[in-house]
Amino acid sequence: MARPTGDSQLTTGAAGTVTGVNLRLACPEDAEATREIYNIEVTGSTVTFDLVPRSLEDQLAWLDQRSGAMAVVVAEIDGQVVGFASLSPYRDRPAYATTVEDSVYVHTDFRGQGVARALLGELLEIGAARGFHSVMARIVGGHDASIGLHQSLGFAAVGTEREVGRKFGKWLDVVLMQRML
Ligand SMILES: CC(C)(COP(=O)(O)OP(=O)(O)OC[C@H]1O[C@@H](n2cnc3c(N)ncnc32)[C@H](O)[C@@H]1OP(=O)(O)O)[C@@H](O)C(=O)NCCC(=O)NCCS
Repeated sequence: MARPTGDSQLTTGAAGTVTGVNLRLACPEDAEATREIYNIEVTGSTVTFDLVPRSLEDQLAWLDQRSGAMAVVVAEIDGQVVGFASLSPYRDRPAYATTVEDSVYVHTDFRGQGVARALLGELLEIGAARGFHSVMARIVGGHDASIGLHQSLGFAAVGTEREVGRKFGKWLDVVLMQRML
């Protein structure tokens, strides 16, 4: 999988970004760092509805599937991958092709510093540049950090799907948010 790297650097403290954070498109070498950040949430929280941690092979395939029209952006601080954001297809049926779904994950040690806002802002710019029309976010009910993050970048709540998920023996709502590009 050939991927451009280092093509997007936001280190100037412009609106919505953080000084010292380098943003770039992910490459296969980011599989281990991104899966580590992700798997902590798979096993320890309800923010993702995945139940089984991803293997390195799974993560390489996941990155590869997003190397065309979709995208994965990673955030680095001092050369360490501290978070990532991704665009995925929203639905399989072809008429949904202009709508994408985002996800954002930041390492626990680097939260509260604007990394997610920088990642999601960059992802929205990529989505718009690639001609997508609308971005959806599916967020577990009560997840104030993610809801606040999306609100701060112009997403509006669409509605709540009640008890559509079940993890750790609990029913989980999904809050649907949307931003037009
Ligand atoms: C949600 C998450 C990505 C936020 O990352 P972060 O880097 O800490 O967020 P930022 O510092 O960029 O915060 C940006 C905005 O998000 C909102 N926000 C972030 N953390 C928040 C919290 N704990 N409570 C409420 N709002 C919060 C705020 O609006 C914040 O802006 P502000 O600092 O000006 O108030 C991070 O907590 C995370 O990775 N969680 C686990 C994975 C996850 O839940 N991903 C989302 C799945 S839908």
